[in-house]
Order: sequence, then structure tokens, then C-alpha cells
Amino acid sequence: MPVEKIRVLLVGLGQVGMKYDLESEHSQVLTHLKAIRNWEANSQHELELFGIDSDVLTEKTFKNIAPEGIWLNTYETLKSEEPFNLAVIATPIHSIAANVLDLCKKLEIQKVVIEKPAAKSLAELATLNYLNDSENKFIVGFPRPSLRSSNYIRESIKLFGESETWKVDIYYGGGVLNILSHFLNLVEFFFSTFELESHSLDNEGNLHAEFKSKDGSLNISTHKYSDRNDEKNRIEILGPLRISYLNSGREIRICKFDSQGKEVFELIDAREEISQMIGVFGKDYMNWAVYSKGFNYTNINSNALYQTIKLSEVSNG
Ligand SMILES: NC(=O)c1ccc[n+]([C@@H]2O[C@H](COP(=O)([O-])OP(=O)(O)OC[C@H]3O[C@@H](n4cnc5c(N)ncnc54)[C@H](O)[C@@H]3O)[C@@H](O)[C@H]2O)c1
Repeated sequence: MPVEKIRVLLVGLGQVGMKYDLESEHSQVLTHLKAIRNWEANSQHELELFGIDSDVLTEKTFKNIAPEGIWLNTYETLKSEEPFNLAVIATPIHSIAANVLDLCKKLEIQKVVIEKPAAKSLAELATLNYLNDSENKFIVGFPRPSLRSSNYIRESIKLFGESETWKVDIYYGGGVLNILSHFLNLVEFFFSTFELESHSLDNEGNLHAEFKSKDGSLNISTHKYSDRNDEKNRIEILGPLRISYLNSGREIRICKFDSQGKEVFELIDAREEISQMIGVFGKDYMNWAVYSKGFNYTNINSNALYQTIKLSEVSNG
């Protein structure tokens, strides 16, 4: 049987597109390019891979990593002779929604991964949501719901009934769209939907915000502690169970405590997950695009994404 060629478009060969893991060990997969190449190496398929970046300096590196790939400095010259199975869009936050709109107008693309946060305003997000078949065609590039550690926490929480109340505190460095978006996405994955209640600035000008679920059983407070992402982000979950989720640049750690505050020994070691995060997510989205295989992805109409962009708009955060 002839091997079906899979046509993939990767737009944006910057940090998360191609560069983060250039110097990393073989096992680390922090970029879409490496994730897609790894998937290809373990599949029956051959990829027709297009790498596109407006920066001409990306060509050489792209060709080194994907010698059979086709590099272009703009998608404007691409023609839709045949449909693309998948496009991964990893351009900067300020232009990503416009890039997705342009591409979807111009080309026939079956599935699209839009890097988080997909849009910088609610108006842009609405435009993406209005696109034909947006619910099935688009996913947003939040990789954490694909991780074992996230599923482990979700399952631990689901063991308790819906009448329980939970308090969640998120501590983060950096911006709302860039950094906080990941952790609000994760809290939605652990629990359920919630809405923005209020926000304020502390004496140092750091943003704090409160979110609540409709039935009041989930209360979330977010605390920015610096403008810079120092990669010491943390989620503290307190309910019938206490869980600390520590997310540094290098590792994820989960600490679980019983009702007496005694640390519970964990069966899961999540420390290595950060260094394979885009690899795990990439394998999931390639199987979704090629085999329609479902996974825990974030839809473009995710409530947490909407609430994140709303907070960013109302707070200028
Ligand atoms: N999921 C994650 O964990 C994660 C991590 C980092 C960044 N991101 C997201 O990924 C996106 C990119 O972030 P980054 O840190 O890689 O940024 P970056 O600036 O390093 O890379 C963006 C690349 O896009 C290229 N580009 C810009 N406009 C273009 C266009 N019209 N056509 C083709 N190429 C174009 C730039 O030349 C650059 O190489 C952002 O939306 C960011 O929020 C996600």
C-alpha cells in the first residue's frame, strides 16, 4: 500500500516553533519542529513539511533539522493545490489571530493548532470562533492537559463529590496572556469553568484577580509577583485534599497532603515532564490531525481562555 503523504505547515520558527531545544539533549522535546519530526520517525507516514518564517535567518537551521522540508519566508506565496492536513501556528501573540485568519482564508487546512493564547483580545477570539467548523478544526496550544501529572491531579480531585468546595491560588511571574493563561487553563482542566469576579493592583503594581465557579464551589485567586517569568510558578489547591503543583522551568513537582497536613507519598514522578512537554502534546495533536484520535485538548471556545483574555483586557495585564 502506498504511504500517504501528510502535508504539515509550521508557521513561526521562533523559540517554541524551532529554537528552544536546539542545544538540548535528544530526549528533550520543547519545540513543534522536533515534536513533528519525532512523530514522523515513529509513524508509517512521510511528511511534506513546510516551515515558514519571515526571518530569513531561520532557513539554515530549519534545513539542517528537516533537510527534505520546504522553507519559505512567507505564506503569501503558498498555493492550495492540495489541502494541508495540519497547520501549527506559532507566531507572536500580537499577530497570531490575524495570521490564522489569513491562512484559513487562503488555504484549505483541515486541522489547526494555534499557539496559546490564540488571540490578544476578545474581539479577535470571537472572530476565530466564528470561522467555519472552528470547534472541530482548531485547538489551542496549551500542552499541560496532555501530561500525566495533570491527569493525575485531575483524577485525585474527581475522587471527591461535587458538593466539596475548593480554593485555588495561582502564583506567577510574567503576563496574563503569556504565563497566567497556562495555569488558568490547567485549573479549568482540573475542575470546571469559572468566571472573573474582580481584579486589583497591590502596592507594587502587581495584578491580583478573583474567579469563581457559577455554584460557588470553586474560588480562584491569582497573584502576580513579578513582571518577569522566573519560572517558579505555583498552584496551591486546598479542599478536602491539599495539592501543591510546582512548575519551574526545569520540572513539575506535585506534593499531596492528607487532612492532617501530612505529606502523602506520590506514585508519580513528574519531574521530567517539562522537558518533554511539547513532544507529548505534539504526538497527541499529530494523531488527532492524521487519525482523528481524541485527546484532552483545549478548544478555541474554552471558557478559561475567554476569562484569561477578558482579565488581560480589563487590567491591561
Ligand atoms: N505552548 C507553550 O508552551 C509556548 C511556549 C512559548 C511560546 N508560546 C506561544 O508561541 C508563540 C510564539 O512564541 P515564541 O516565544 O516562539 O516567539 P518568537 O518571537 O521566538 O517566534 C515567533 C516567530 O514567528 C515569526 N513570524 C512572525 N510573524 C510571522 C509571519 N507573519 N509569518 C511567518 N513567521 C512569522 C518570527 O520571525 C519568529 O521567528 C506565541 O504566541 C507564544 O504565546 C507557547
